[in-house]
Amino acid sequence: MRVDQAVNIEDLHRMARRRLPKVAFDFIEGGLEDERGLDRNTAAFHKHHLLPRYLVDVSKRDQSATIFGKNFASPFGISPTGGAGLFRRGADLMLAEAAREANIPYIMSGSSNDSLEAAARVAPDNAWYQLYAARDPEICDDLIRRVADAGLGALVLTVDVPVHSKRERNIRNGFANIRGNWLRAALSLKPTLLAEAMTHPGWVFEYIRHGGTPALENWLPYAAPGATAEDTVKFNRSMVPAHAQTWRDLERYRRLFPRTLIVKGIMDPRDAVRAADIGCDGVIVSNHGGRQLDQAPASLDVLPAIKRAVGDRMTVMLDSGVRRGADILIAMCLGAQFCFFGRPTLYGAVAGGLPGVKKAIDIFRGEIDLVMGQIGCPSLNELGPDFLWSDDWPRNR
Ligand SMILES: Cc1cc2nc3c(=O)[nH]c(=O)nc-3n(C[C@H](O)[C@H](O)[C@H](O)COP(=O)(O)O)c2cc1C
Repeated sequence: MRVDQAVNIEDLHRMARRRLPKVAFDFIEGGLEDERGLDRNTAAFHKHHLLPRYLVDVSKRDQSATIFGKNFASPFGISPTGGAGLFRRGADLMLAEAAREANIPYIMSGSSNDSLEAAARVAPDNAWYQLYAARDPEICDDLIRRVADAGLGALVLTVDVPVHSKRERNIRNGFANIRGNWLRAALSLKPTLLAEAMTHPGWVFEYIRHGGTPALENWLPYAAPGATAEDTVKFNRSMVPAHAQTWRDLERYRRLFPRTLIVKGIMDPRDAVRAADIGCDGVIVSNHGGRQLDQAPASLDVLPAIKRAVGDRMTVMLDSGVRRGADILIAMCLGAQFCFFGRPTLYGAVAGGLPGVKKAIDIFRGEIDLVMGQIGCPSLNELGPDFLWSDDWPRNR
């Protein structure tokens, strides 16, 4: 199957799985510990049903959405996915380019392989940057300055990685081994995984041709002079996460960064209120795609409480588990003003490079359009709890 034949995100998912060896694919796919959070994220969307209204003129349907004073063509964007270049060389800039063409936001990861300055060149109006606080505050502050100087539209601080999580697939697979030189990777992988990798020659050839892992280019200026790609990965690992990051740091970032400041990974309404008090412009309600705390609730489940707590004081967005256009509409009925997803566009990039990312975006866009027509909702502004069915629906209305 080619990416242009993909009918849904699951098709891209299957194609990505075929292209990558297990040691690499498991990094994208996995959660942590028992991976209950992954199921919870999907199940949260499946609990909700959309209640269609008919005899409504849906001949024109508008899925554009305005946040932070900018109009985007769809109510979704691309969440940051670190190390994307390991799975498809140049993936960060493919994501940026596809976002620019589709006029949606792209959040470059704090662990991206391409640089934020390159993202700004490729997608000057659509690229944002996600920051992982570093143990050395000077690096952090310098990154913030670079984001401001490059003119990126927003800084997204991810707060849900105070410590690394226990990603058991990666531990068992020895994922860290492939984040270095290719020869060392080949010598250190378990024989079964190495043999399995050899059945994915497309990726293996690309990996060897580039000498192994790609560098984390944003980190080159801070690593020792002459640092190799592997050195940048190691240096980043020694600096991130900053275990002692607190609200005072967020206050500092607020003073340093003049434009839109978003906090990603907020799950408690009290934290959302505190971020609003500090003057942050938005939150992305997120459990990191089920990769950080296996016992965390689904972000969709905590979304209504967060929206109630902050009201219109800041923009409330959501990610984790979005796989269908309808999921985005459901989240919007529950109070999200915008949604993001991480894996779907990464599947697209892995499966087919830039055309694969574009395909993922087109799939979401097409599904949103159809479901808006189905439920009698020509404009996203009309979405709200009235479009959701619940068993006690007649009593509640
Ligand atoms: C491979 C991978 C790498 C990720 N890297 C980052 C990252 O560097 N920074 C970050 O804030 N979130 C990161 N995330 C989390 C995503 O930004 C997002 O919260 C998550 O993927 C949403 O869930 P979804 O994949 O179900 O859409 C990563 C997720 C994946 C799958």
